Amino acid sequence: MRIKKRFTGHYQKGFMPWTHEEADHNLIEVLESWPVKPCKVLEPGCGTGTDAIWLAKAGFDVTACDVVEIPLNIAKENAKKMKADVQFLRIDFLNENIENAPFDLVFDRGYFHSYRTPGKRKKLARRVASVLTDDGLWLSLVGSCDSPPRQSGPPMRSAKNIVDAVEKHFEIQFLRAGFFGGRNKPGARIWICLMKKRTFHTC
Ligand SMILES: C[S@@+](CC[C@H](N)C(=O)[O-])C[C@H]1O[C@@H](n2cnc3c(N)ncnc32)[C@H](O)[C@@H]1O
Repeated sequence: MRIKKRFTGHYQKGFMPWTHEEADHNLIEVLESWPVKPCKVLEPGCGTGTDAIWLAKAGFDVTACDVVEIPLNIAKENAKKMKADVQFLRIDFLNENIENAPFDLVFDRGYFHSYRTPGKRKKLARRVASVLTDDGLWLSLVGSCDSPPRQSGPPMRSAKNIVDAVEKHFEIQFLRAGFFGGRNKPGARIWICLMKKRTFHTC
């Protein structure tokens, strides 16, 4: 449970540079353009819940989970203020079962990229596939290594890191470069990866 300890420490110190006040524009754009209609969605590693709240307000049936209590308390408070109906759960998504699976869509922003080893990222991809319906989609926003060297900022993963982890369980619909953040405030470089659960295994 090293990742839980790491994030608990961050939240206890108030170090949470990934928090954002507006829903990530990449989420909104992909849902509009693919398109993905309101459906049953899970956001693992939801943090303070900004995107989960936006999804609920947009008509999605939303479950959101995090392994740390501190951001979940903030998320619940924000959802109450916004009158958004989100089921927030404190669970370790990598290791614990989630009661109301299956979901039509999984969305994560910066959760997949938090895993430092290929083995953990593969395990996460397997877990995501296991909670999706057949044909279910996974949209993941992942910090990109196509940035100059820097001391801080999101983890830097390569396109290959993503493909290696997910391809066994997912057909990649697209994998493209972009930026975290709101429409008018581009942040760090990321990968935007939309995947569909595999129903056959030739890879
Ligand atoms: C980089 S933060 C991103 C938070 C949020 N998605 C956002 O963009 O604001 C990653 C989140 O994943 C959570 N997390 C880490 N390991 C987890 C696990 N095993 N199960 C559920 N959540 C986890 C952390 O506590 C943290 O809130």
